[in-house]
Amino acid sequence: MELRDSTALVTGANRGIGRHFALELIRRGAKVYATARRPELVDIPGAHVLRLDITDEASVAAAAASALDVDVLINNAASTAGGDLVTGDLSGIRETMDSNYYGTLHMIRAFAPILARNGGGAVLNVLSAVAWTTVAGNAAYGAAKSAEWGLTNGVRLELAGQGTLVSALVPGVTATETMRDYAKVAGLQIRDGAMNEPIDLVRLALDGLEAGEIEILDRFGVEAKATLTGPPQAFDLEKALG
Ligand SMILES: NC(=O)c1ccc[n+]([C@@H]2O[C@H](COP(=O)([O-])OP(=O)(O)OC[C@H]3O[C@@H](n4cnc5c(N)ncnc54)[C@H](OP(=O)(O)O)[C@@H]3O)[C@@H](O)[C@H]2O)c1
Repeated sequence: MELRDSTALVTGANRGIGRHFALELIRRGAKVYATARRPELVDIPGAHVLRLDITDEASVAAAAASALDVDVLINNAASTAGGDLVTGDLSGIRETMDSNYYGTLHMIRAFAPILARNGGGAVLNVLSAVAWTTVAGNAAYGAAKSAEWGLTNGVRLELAGQGTLVSALVPGVTATETMRDYAKVAGLQIRDGAMNEPIDLVRLALDGLEAGEIEILDRFGVEAKATLTGPPQAFDLEKALG
């Protein structure tokens, strides 16, 4: 899929990995809708800014009505703090599932007809290596990402007939403010170079999308997928960072 002269929509573009997606897509010659729950926080020269909460169907419908030329959908936005499944706050667990699973599903349902009308295009869902493992202290997030992986595989089948490439980015720890804050609160030391730089991850993802790959893995994703051939394992955050 050629990104030059494509029209991309990025969710959660006000910060973190989503902001880098929007910046790099513009650099590669795409028209970009940079969307956010709080559009006033989007600072991306050249982007078309839209308000969008992916868990709110009316908000998703309004964004779709304003972005009828989209042919690349980047489902990046998500809540990443689900907490513990057994003893954690249930509202946090629900919010994580709502954004990662239902939010991504709302976006795909709203944009699938638009992608079809625009020649098929592509969807990229941002998953996580914890989809294939789990992680102590944030198992609700791992479970939501596992659900999103299943969703991605199902949607790929359903949209194959309209020529839409449905791809999964499966990364590990990436140096966003959210990740650094989490490491600090958890008292984890971060070795230099332990985390992906967001821009490197985004370049890997967009190169993979341009090459038509259906799964795009960084080194953490490769290791996590290999664990699936054996008994379930947890992602060792301390080892990954230290
Ligand atoms: N960083 C990592 O180590 C890492 C590793 C693997 C996978 N990922 C995945 O990569 C993606 C981005 O992560 P990140 O580290 O960049 O996260 P982040 O810095 O915490 O940013 C999350 C983004 O998602 C937005 N968002 C959350 N819920 C939303 C909703 N209901 N509607 C619209 N936007 C919403 C946030 O908006 P607000 O500013 O309004 O909260 C923010 O823009 C996520 O899917 C995450 O699971 C991250």
